[in-house]
Amino acid sequence: MIRAIYPGSFDPVTLGHLDIIRRASQKVDELIVGVLNNGGKTPLFSIDERVSMLKEVTGGLSNVKILSFSGLLVDFARQTEATIVVRGLRAISDFEYELQMAQTNHKLNPQVDTMFLATSLQYSYLSSTIVKEVASFDGDISEFVPGTLVERVKEKVRERRDR
Ligand code: PNS
Repeated sequence: MIRAIYPGSFDPVTLGHLDIIRRASQKVDELIVGVLNNGGKTPLFSIDERVSMLKEVTGGLSNVKILSFSGLLVDFARQTEATIVVRGLRAISDFEYELQMAQTNHKLNPQVDTMFLATSLQYSYLSSTIVKEVASFDGDISEFVPGTLVERVKEKVRERRDR
């Protein structure tokens, strides 16, 4: 039984994330999408909202589970008995930080190895930060996030802007 975790902030989940979730879930028995509940950061969406959006857009994938976690990823991996961490690599600029994280995580928990998936070309520019930036200027985000989330993201960004 191979169980992997795909960790991230998912604030909000993008089509790039969803592409990695779909592809990674085909390579393992179970894929846990681990949504970071980090008290230090102020995300646009609450942890419950991020978990609920992910559940909605991964509904058709039977071996994908959405869970939140706080603290160290390697501790979450221990709790869930996962041995693989999946991360997407968009560009060489991602690599340095990702390598450092992968090596630190392996040092902290030698049971855990990180596997990188190359982001599909059509999403190589995409990030949650870009989505929020475009939405904050009323730009079109329909090619960035799943269709069912477009209005929710725009509304949330408007709410924050008008506060
Ligand atoms: O979507 P992100 O923000 O790029 O994801 C980063 C994430 C959640 C993978 C990373 O910040 C993380 O694993 N945080 C939990 C704390 C931890 O274990 N840090 C890694 C030690 S180097």
